[in-house]
Amino acid sequence: MQENSWVPLFPEQASTFAWQVDILYFYMLAVSTVVGIGIVVAIIFFFVKYREKEKYATGAEIHGSIGLETTWSIIPFIFAMTVFVGGAYVFYNQTRPPADTTEIYVVGKQWMWKFQHGSGQREINELHVPVGRNIKLTMTTEDVLHDVYIPAFRTKMDVIPGRYTTLWFNAIKPGKYHLYCAEYCGLNHSGMGGWVYVMEQRDFDNWLSGNVSGQTPVQAGQDLFQNKLGCATCHQGGQNQRGAKLEGIYGTDVKLTNGQTVKADDEYIRNSILNPGGQIVEGYQPIMPTFKGQVTEEQLVSLVAYIKSLSGNAGNQTSAGSTTPTSESTMTNNANTTGTIPPRADRGDSNSQGSNPNAPPNRSEPTNRQER
Ligand code: CUA
Repeated sequence: MQENSWVPLFPEQASTFAWQVDILYFYMLAVSTVVGIGIVVAIIFFFVKYREKEKYATGAEIHGSIGLETTWSIIPFIFAMTVFVGGAYVFYNQTRPPADTTEIYVVGKQWMWKFQHGSGQREINELHVPVGRNIKLTMTTEDVLHDVYIPAFRTKMDVIPGRYTTLWFNAIKPGKYHLYCAEYCGLNHSGMGGWVYVMEQRDFDNWLSGNVSGQTPVQAGQDLFQNKLGCATCHQGGQNQRGAKLEGIYGTDVKLTNGQTVKADDEYIRNSILNPGGQIVEGYQPIMPTFKGQVTEEQLVSLVAYIKSLSGNAGNQTSAGSTTPTSESTMTNNANTTGTIPPRADRGDSNSQGSNPNAPPNRSEPTNRQER
């Protein structure tokens, strides 16, 4: 792609779509500048030309001019449509992750960013990614609205309580780039940020192997499912199966008792854990208790990852949304690069603050969460 330094004061263009955003921005800036200058020049010109030369003079009456009216309609129309098409193109690119993404889970909280890689490594306020790979962040927050913003990648996305949002990018050059929170979220909002480290694949693999990995999200989810929360009692098949079958459910259309059909995606799984009575699968009784208040956002992310894995999703890898099946080659390819380190199952602290010594102790949930 382009060199970054063609505009002074601008952050580097470090992602595949950074130049698209810049071109659109400067195109709009250029159009606005030309139109703005044109208007000012016309005002001054008419000031002078039509200044009062004699007292009480009246101007000639003009009734319409097809040529003039067509011109001043068509030219702005062309400008508006080019901005629209350019904006739609960039928007489409940024909101549709490609099929072969490496998924990283993000949980925001006042006032830090927590990242977890599919192979189990956890980071706080730092994110290490390999260059030239499609990275997809699946994000939520434990408390209030936050917003992931990486200026060098020209991308940002709100992180919303009670919901998963996603953001993807492909970093094109190794380096260290600022990461910000771009949504006012309280006292230390301005300090809620960090760095994204884009590394060559080899360096990234070294980094991964040099970092203690806890349980992978899939393993942590399995542990919760089978031991800590006891989901397996009803969902594990066999004679005691009273809950919906979860194997193979991810990405399919699920029929509900009320006749509706929903897609079993991340959001659906999350809702079913927190509000099980909301969307009962056809053929089952509404007997599942809610787990609201009993599971943290990080545990939820792990449970979602585990339930996905029951449908053949490799946990750290997902397809671009639930409509596209993950291709065999993608999974193998990614497994080679992110799964080189055997995860350590003996560290059961998947829900703690990871290994960050600066992490504050677990705080109680803000009260406004209970009202939701
Ligand atoms: Cu988090 Cu501002």
